[in-house]
Amino acid sequence: MDLYEHQAKELFAEYGVPVPAGRVAKTPEEARAIAAEFAAAGSPRVVVKAQVKTGGRGKAGGVKLADGPEAAAEHARAILGMDIRGHTVGKVLVEQASDIAEEYYFSFLLDRANRTFLSIASREGGMDIEEVAATQPEAVAKVPIAALVGIDAARAREIAVAANLPAEVVDGAADLITRLWRLFVERDATLVEVNPMIRTGDGGVAALDAKVTLDDNAAFRQDQARFADPAGVDSLEARAKEKGLGYVKLDGQVGIIGNGAGLVMSTLDVVAYAGEGLNGGVRPANFLDIGGGASAEVMANGLEIVLSDPDVRSVFVNVFGGITSCDAVANGIVHAVELLAERGERVERPVVVRLDGNNSAEGREILAAARIPVVEQVETMDDAARRAAELAAAAKGD
Ligand SMILES: Nc1ncnc2c1ncn2[C@@H]1O[C@H](COP(=O)(O)OP(=O)(O)O)[C@@H](O)[C@H]1O
Ligand SMILES: [Mg+2]
Repeated sequence: MDLYEHQAKELFAEYGVPVPAGRVAKTPEEARAIAAEFAAAGSPRVVVKAQVKTGGRGKAGGVKLADGPEAAAEHARAILGMDIRGHTVGKVLVEQASDIAEEYYFSFLLDRANRTFLSIASREGGMDIEEVAATQPEAVAKVPIAALVGIDAARAREIAVAANLPAEVVDGAADLITRLWRLFVERDATLVEVNPMIRTGDGGVAALDAKVTLDDNAAFRQDQARFADPAGVDSLEARAKEKGLGYVKLDGQVGIIGNGAGLVMSTLDVVAYAGEGLNGGVRPANFLDIGGGASAEVMANGLEIVLSDPDVRSVFVNVFGGITSCDAVANGIVHAVELLAERGERVERPVVVRLDGNNSAEGREILAAARIPVVEQVETMDDAARRAAELAAAAKGD
């Protein structure tokens, strides 16, 4: 489960990690009132920040400095309702503006490939860490953390020094790192990221941004319900979850449905590749794994979820028949289209289908015989990905 920045900062505060004081607003009026309280307390400068579970909010115009309550209300008005990489902004965090002297990067994460935890720290913070890692790899310090040993004050200092942080902030950074490690372990997090971690004008160290992912497998022993977001902006993901589907919203235009997580992952890759350079770029709109048994109902639910996303311009159904054979999947697609029509959700956007594997010939015949105008069959995965990307590119911006 990913947390919103304001939730992650609440956790930070519980562990004594310095964060700016702030509160959440859902309307411009609320934003004005919060800023007015800060102003009355002697800090008129605030930052209005979009609360969406994606990065790059600053670049997208979702983080704005305001010099008082009126400006805060204005910025909130502009940011609320904004679309940031496919996420609609439903709330903003209004927090005190910090006096930034320098911006650094810090994170703890689970390094699955090496079966360990990893800390990543850099003196170059604030921006995209992948970019820093690509252009100045020497500026990024990666220090593995053995799970059974963890982090003590000395190890935390080593990390700060390895990141080449200025001598005067090493102690402050080490303290913050030690506290974040306690949070990471005690709350069963798989990611804690602070970008930027800053040095303030008076030499202090604070967390200005906060990203936390909690391990869903630990939900039984953690109070994660407090972070749940029933009226949340990712309601598509919530609806998919209710229906037992593995759905993740992405920021592109080609809806993806496949059976098996591995196949869906590689489908995302081929679609992204096929969509490069088409009409300003076309990318996958989601990950959706309908699992092994693709019954008509599961297929209908999947199509319904994918088509509920207004960004979707075309859909690519990529199925490799195994235990569930292609004729069953083809019948599933035919019935799914009927089911949706009965529910008043007629399928009007193009659906490209690639069936391969067990009983593929029978499956293709069933689909062809059904003569569904929006359905187009393509034999290979690469060709189908290209076709779906082209259709999305042609419809983009309609
Ligand atoms: N409370 C704050 N005071 C001053 N500047 C801030 C504050 N919060 C964010 N910023 C500035 O805005 C930039 C982007 O904010 P951040 O929270 O990192 O969002 P994102 O990473 O999604 O773009 C930060 O790098 C920092 O320069
Ligand atoms: Mg950031």
